[in-house]
Amino acid sequence: MDIQLKGNVARNCHPPGLQAYLQQQANYIRQQPAISGAKKVLILGASSGFGLASRLVLSEAGGADTIGVSFERGPSERGIGTAGWYNNIYAKQLAEEKGLIAKNFVADAFQADTRKQVIDYIKREFGGKIDLVIYSLATGRRVTESGQWQSVLKTTSEPLTGYSINLEQQQLEQQTVEVANAQEIDATTKVMGGEDWQLWMEELQQAGVLAEGANTIAYSYIGPERTSAIYREGTIGYAKQHLHATADALNQQLQDSVGGSAYACVCKALVTKASVYIPVMSPYIALLYKVMKQQGLHEECTEQAYRLFSERLYPADGQAVTDKQRQIRIDDWELSAEVQSQIDQLYNSITPENFKQTTDYAGYRQSFERLNGFAVEGVDYQQALNIDALSQLRP
Ligand code: NAI
Repeated sequence: MDIQLKGNVARNCHPPGLQAYLQQQANYIRQQPAISGAKKVLILGASSGFGLASRLVLSEAGGADTIGVSFERGPSERGIGTAGWYNNIYAKQLAEEKGLIAKNFVADAFQADTRKQVIDYIKREFGGKIDLVIYSLATGRRVTESGQWQSVLKTTSEPLTGYSINLEQQQLEQQTVEVANAQEIDATTKVMGGEDWQLWMEELQQAGVLAEGANTIAYSYIGPERTSAIYREGTIGYAKQHLHATADALNQQLQDSVGGSAYACVCKALVTKASVYIPVMSPYIALLYKVMKQQGLHEECTEQAYRLFSERLYPADGQAVTDKQRQIRIDDWELSAEVQSQIDQLYNSITPENFKQTTDYAGYRQSFERLNGFAVEGVDYQQALNIDALSQLRP
């Protein structure tokens, strides 16, 4: 069985491959020193990418109970379901093997009713308090009681023409990204900015479920000058600026109420379900993979999350490590002079004819396939899937 693609979207997934891949991540984390940090964690966007990696690291290395909220689809007549559906199931199994709680809410995190259900659960069955909230949603659309917004990935000053990887065609395609209007910038900020994070934190605080010293983090990206037209100065960059400002506002509120802190955590560029969607960004990421692997600095979400919790948020002396803007930085290796100068030397030589050699296209693709349970070592892809048994599994 092979991955089926439509553009850069996977149309199927391989549950045994997802299970094996999660087990490999868990094995890696178990070999690392334990982390002394949060024990009761709420993760918004827990089923893939950075949210899933955070859940695994905090349960496997930190012994934390977790609540995960995600928007995923189980098996039906429409297909086998989404990778995130199975990640929820297998992450819960891994946690339960250790005697830990991993509760899953498969629900729209933007709905007031989801916040209410999660808060009720914390009060009734989760010990009443949480000590860390991780905000890791990535989506194109937000629908609430008061409106709906669609985010766009566009520039804000002038059109941008560049190459993007098309995984289905295995080609580098030229694309022109248009300039967003003010309404599109606002809508993207509504979807990917900090407003929903703030709503969650305020309701959790009002419900009295934040423990003394509780922290919250939200994932962000800044990136180098090279990607600034599409990222930092693109619509998504505006949303991230809003998220960063929200971190400061929330920090003040948490300090005053429970003596806790709020941080934006700036990660490195990685292949995830969300990032392969960003136009004119993929050749940079595929080259970044090549350069960081050559320099022995490559990390995937799990390694990033481990470094975040062990060295930044919960280091041995208990003091969170931030930069001057009070942001937690785990993009430091990506932005190092050694990595960026190497990228500067190689980037302009990438062409549609040679991109499979000039970048780490194979590694980029492998990472993408693994997100969907393919290309995982030790998995027999010839064996038929037992759909009936898979349909019995519940997150
Ligand atoms: P992802 O696509 O792997 O994960 C997104 C998660 O959000 C999934 O669990 C999904 O189910 C959940 N989700 C989406 N809409 C939802 C909804 N309405 N209700 C509940 N759950 C919902 O994405 P990824 O890449 O891990 O992104 C997470 C955060 O990390 C984002 O803020 C992103 O900007 C940030 N980030 C990503 C980087 C990258 O290179 N991938 C780099 C730096 C930051």
